[in-house]
Amino acid sequence: EYKTLSVAEMEQRVREIKNSFGEKLFIPGHHYQKDEVIQFADTTGDSLQLAQISAQNKNAEYIVFCGVHFMAETADILTNPNQRVILPDMRAGCSMADMANIEQTERGWNTMQQVFGDTIIPLTYVNSTAAIKAFVGRNGGATVTSSNAKPMLEWAFTQKQRILFLPDQHLGRNTAFDLGIPLDEMAVWNPITDAFEYNGNLNDVKVILWKGHCSVHENFTVNNINDIRKDEPDMNIIVHPECTREVVALSDYAGSTKYIIDTIDKAPSGSKWAIGTEMNLVKRIINNHPDKKIVSLNPHMCPCLTMNRIDLPHLLWALESLEKGEVINEIKVDATIAKDATLALERMLARA
Ligand code: 13P
Ligand code: SF4
Repeated sequence: EYKTLSVAEMEQRVREIKNSFGEKLFIPGHHYQKDEVIQFADTTGDSLQLAQISAQNKNAEYIVFCGVHFMAETADILTNPNQRVILPDMRAGCSMADMANIEQTERGWNTMQQVFGDTIIPLTYVNSTAAIKAFVGRNGGATVTSSNAKPMLEWAFTQKQRILFLPDQHLGRNTAFDLGIPLDEMAVWNPITDAFEYNGNLNDVKVILWKGHCSVHENFTVNNINDIRKDEPDMNIIVHPECTREVVALSDYAGSTKYIIDTIDKAPSGSKWAIGTEMNLVKRIINNHPDKKIVSLNPHMCPCLTMNRIDLPHLLWALESLEKGEVINEIKVDATIAKDATLALERMLARA
């Protein structure tokens, strides 16, 4: 039914509904969201900022979350029970979060307990389901984001000798490497074969990396970097730590979406940048800095298809439903899962 409305009409309706709800309605938007959606966000941020803002906001009755499913789950866990969290399109998942389910995780953990005894603590990237966060919370661990992965790993090593890092092997490997842990002290756990991928003696392992990845960030390659270095030797390369170790090692800078934005904001006029992260954010940074030469590290531009499922028609549909008094696409995490997941999130927020 939204096909009959022009973009300007849809934007007008969104504005009207937002105004009529006032503070009762809150719209957080992740940096990877489309401009057509981000223009209506009350706040934008990286995963950590959005988690913190959700935890602080006690006024909003409705939180229309413009991001992906795991972020909306986190918002539901951190807000009061009377606050309702809505995801404008339920198909907005995250392929990385889907790479660790709870059955695989419990099975892998059992094997790890047999091999390592009580010497491991689990950490999970926030890009994971609420059930995985609950598993981590129950077992003494915490969540991490790309902004605080380093201090969180440091903390985890004060608790136990070894870390199981879920579900992104690249963020885990890049962060552990940054802490000085050699690559040959990191094993990979393959949840499909239920086996370690490791050639040495498991006793030497300090970090066990879950074999998951982000399909968007794996598109930035060593070849892309070599091409830029050859054609534009004075270009700075900045990537997200969900990129592979090889790509991060060859880049000049690596960090969260917020870090990428702040670094380029502070860079001098005329500087040159190749960015390895999601396309909507890269395009926005390019538009905001006409005085700098900025390109995507992969010339094909890499979209996150699930982030893109939240578009103007879906946002309007969610808001019009609220206007009619209906709450559609509500994200409600089971109370027992939420309780354990809160432990993992709070251990992070206390240190973030
Ligand atoms: P950050 O915004 O925390 O850097 O996360 C990136 C991401 O992939 C979110 O899905
Ligand atoms: Fe998931 Fe990667 Fe998309 Fe982020 S960019 S939501 S990690 S698939």
